[in-house]
Amino acid sequence: MEAKGGFSKPELQVLANITASQVKLHAKYGGVFPMMAKREHAKNLTPILKQVLKESGLFKNNSPKNYSSILKNTRIVLKREPGLAEALVPLLQKIKKPKIDAIAVTYGPGLEPTLWVGINFAKALSLAWNIPVIPINHMEGHIFSALMEQRQVKSNKLKVTRNKQENTSYMLSAISFPAVALLISGGHTELVLMKDWFKYKIIGATRDDAVGEAFDKVARILGLPYPGGPEISRLAKLGSHAPKYKLPRPMLHSGDFDFSFSGLKTAVLYLVRDLEKKHSNILQNVRMSSDIAREFENACVEVLVAKTMSALKKYKTSTLILGGGVSANEKIRHDMKLALNEKFPDCALYLPDTNLTGDNALMIAGAGYLRAMGAKTGKLKLVANPSAKGNLRL
Ligand code: KG4
Ligand code: ZN
Repeated sequence: MEAKGGFSKPELQVLANITASQVKLHAKYGGVFPMMAKREHAKNLTPILKQVLKESGLFKNNSPKNYSSILKNTRIVLKREPGLAEALVPLLQKIKKPKIDAIAVTYGPGLEPTLWVGINFAKALSLAWNIPVIPINHMEGHIFSALMEQRQVKSNKLKVTRNKQENTSYMLSAISFPAVALLISGGHTELVLMKDWFKYKIIGATRDDAVGEAFDKVARILGLPYPGGPEISRLAKLGSHAPKYKLPRPMLHSGDFDFSFSGLKTAVLYLVRDLEKKHSNILQNVRMSSDIAREFENACVEVLVAKTMSALKKYKTSTLILGGGVSANEKIRHDMKLALNEKFPDCALYLPDTNLTGDNALMIAGAGYLRAMGAKTGKLKLVANPSAKGNLRL
């Protein structure tokens, strides 16, 4: 990403954007296994780096020079990441230092082993190229993904490439504070109060499973592949409008902003078991499974929308931000808009572009630039923090 304009008027131009999805691999095993995910990250990072450098025009061959003392440190940083130094060092040896000023990297929350691969890779590059690393909170990345607005790019010199986000240019939405963000992903479900840029307070969170995790688990119960969110959502559309089954709305009236999705998932499991006693092959029965999927989706969305509306009321905000993988869900987008129109018509809703809802590098790069420009950064403390909260520790 090439960024300019500072914090007040940022222009974030995408030079190249590649996502190495592990979805197919994890689908085979029905979920994410940390050590397998770590191995895949380590395997993918160097080829991706090479490809993004090439696509962005930053790849310049160099006759191999004596880089050995620097690369010795690179090797030390990567000593806990088997195979990574062996792949990265030969690449670094043959290219000129690219025109890159800083590297943004996610430090958490997430799976610790995979976070470390990314952090160590960023540290290794930072040493080799003598540039800083900007640690970014993953959830802050999801917030910024909703605030990155596409700009019209005037230049006709832009090269056409296979990646549709390349050459897209973003600016930062001018939002009013306080803002409420509903962050919904495979690992998190939280309501965050934003008093100002970079000032976060988690006002509610799930007490057990994240909503995305519940979608994934219910998909498994219904015999659908991983990741379950899009599958459930597709199936739910086929369900009948009048609900055929009734599932609980956990913590709907709890009076706080917390969530719970584990019991809802178990309720689906029991419902399927009960139905199986009476009917054969219910999972092959599209009518039944789509009715279950629809009721499950309705239950999740109803609770998420209701708690978000209560948060808007309590904190008197006129800005709502939605982010995280589950924010791709059409029903939640639709119902949230509807509820806002009805209850808070003056509240502005910020949603990520559909290609930025899931985990992606752009949101981290964008947040990295804005942090570097807008926050008073102290000493960088760069450690993987699997349970990192909203507040960045810098
Ligand atoms: O943010 P994300 O890409 O990764 C994490 O940080 O966890 O979120 C992934 C989650 C998965 O649980 C996936 O099933 C869910 O987002 N998801 C959806 C939809 N698309 C992805 N859930 C519901 N409806 C969708 N359309
Ligand atoms: Zn995420």
